[in-house]
Amino acid sequence: MKITARAPANIALIKYWGKKDAALRLPLSGSVSMNLDKVYTITTVEFSPLFKEDQVGIGGEKLGEKESQRVVKHLDRVRKMAGVDHKARVETKNNFPKGTGIASSASGFAALTLAATKSAGLDLTERELSILARLGSGSACRSIPDGFVEWVEGNSHQTSYGRSLYPPGHWGLVDVVAVVTKEEKKVSSTRGHSQADTSPFLAPRIRGMAAKIKRVKEALVAKDFTSLGEAIEAEALNMHAVMMTSVPPILYWLPKTIEIMLAVQRWRQEGLESYFTLDAGATVHVIAQEKDHLVLEKKLSKIEETKRVIASPPGLGARIVKDHLF
Ligand code: PMV
Repeated sequence: MKITARAPANIALIKYWGKKDAALRLPLSGSVSMNLDKVYTITTVEFSPLFKEDQVGIGGEKLGEKESQRVVKHLDRVRKMAGVDHKARVETKNNFPKGTGIASSASGFAALTLAATKSAGLDLTERELSILARLGSGSACRSIPDGFVEWVEGNSHQTSYGRSLYPPGHWGLVDVVAVVTKEEKKVSSTRGHSQADTSPFLAPRIRGMAAKIKRVKEALVAKDFTSLGEAIEAEALNMHAVMMTSVPPILYWLPKTIEIMLAVQRWRQEGLESYFTLDAGATVHVIAQEKDHLVLEKKLSKIEETKRVIASPPGLGARIVKDHLF
């Protein structure tokens, strides 16, 4: 059967950086994220006895060899679970630039997991889908459930998964994403995770994670924007400090990245309350309250050479949709 799914990217408020089990993608700590309603991947999957080999396309073109192998590996997991051995055709489309700090692997593997399992005749629970998506890309486990999501760290394959803390309507926050380059990042997050433990700052970071997760969850319950904002900005800088001090060092920022981070802090002093966060890339995510997002969007768009500004409220998780890509 041909099935199409749509899944959102997510922005980590408290980040995942480093794994305790690379093959199972078990994280060194839990994390918390918000799904992005306006930033998503759509994926159509069909298993058929007529296909001689797996075919994977993105935006109408053949996906690169390495990425394609990662998708085929995920299809193999689904085939094994469903007890089918048909080859598949997969076509996928992102509505945002890839590899620039918007997590395309999160939305991509979440959409692939939902579409492929349904297409293979499986009917998994949300938790099972999240666990399976995690094997494709860690942060993908957070793009399965709705709204604000916690990735429960866990200590085994079955106990590490994303669960919804609140539906998207819980709090009118907006992530205003400022894309500063069209070039893909030079160091993949998979490589970054694998060398996180070479940073002298990793151990103190991990020791502080439970307290940070607690603070962010409390800010989410109370809708305390200042507390949330201060926590997430500090958290992004903390993770990037680990990246920069790992061996070899990873520096994802570009001059524009720093210009925007400083502008956000300056605007805040002038009364526009918003906070920045960054995943593994040069893209800056600026989190604001609904009432301020238009002003913020305008200010960010005015920063010279900013490639694109995308404002996104919290979004639903992965869903089946009707329109197929082939
Ligand atoms: O899931 P991955 O391997 O793409 O890692 C994501 C890592 C960060 O985006 C930097 C942080 C996070 O929690 O999403």
